[in-house]
Amino acid sequence: MPSTTRLQPRAMRSEFESANAALVGRAEVMLERYVALGAPHARLLNTLSMLEHIGSRKIMATQSGRGLDQPTLKHLAEETRHAFFFKRHAEGVARRSLDYSAEVLAAPAAARMYFQRLDAGTAKALGRTANQRAAYLYMSMVVEFRAVWLYRIYHAVLERSRSPLSLRGVLAEEEGHLEEMAGALVTIGASDPALIERLCGAERKLFERLLIALERSVEEFALAA
Ligand SMILES: [Fe+2]
Ligand SMILES: [Fe+2]
Repeated sequence: MPSTTRLQPRAMRSEFESANAALVGRAEVMLERYVALGAPHARLLNTLSMLEHIGSRKIMATQSGRGLDQPTLKHLAEETRHAFFFKRHAEGVARRSLDYSAEVLAAPAAARMYFQRLDAGTAKALGRTANQRAAYLYMSMVVEFRAVWLYRIYHAVLERSRSPLSLRGVLAEEEGHLEEMAGALVTIGASDPALIERLCGAERKLFERLLIALERSVEEFALAA
């Protein structure tokens, strides 16, 4: 029975990695180009800040209320801090303060669309009967898989370019969230590995669109430089 199946985040992460193997090289090249360009790198960092902020706002909007527990508050606090972390580094690279306007972001429409469609797709896949708690946990799980995948690649790119910026702390927290979401899904009896795999497949298509938009943007920034 799916509801009693134990989720194994590590095994699922290696499945996620196999399914995304074809995207690793492209993500690496895209990130290397942003890092090498300076000002566009600030835009990318600011975009990651915006995505973290959208994620934290979503937790706040859907999980507030009597049932709000300590792990969810911790998750909210950490995603909010990630938004701050990327904003602070974006401003460090840009050497000025940055809001979330399009002219200081990279592929902003695609980034916002990624989250909106993921949210709508998850809600649709779960159906009307799903409660907000289950929707939050499934959606978070899928996002955490991507965050760990992308930040690991990004961290390696930053290390190779001898950047002073390290994603080690953020990565450790995203890995922790993955374990926490898996545990919480088991607790509420909603752990369905097949559903997670399906959601991850849909997310991959959305991420690939975002990747294409980021590749195009960095191309334009390079030509304008
Ligand atoms: Fe995060
Ligand atoms: Fe996270």
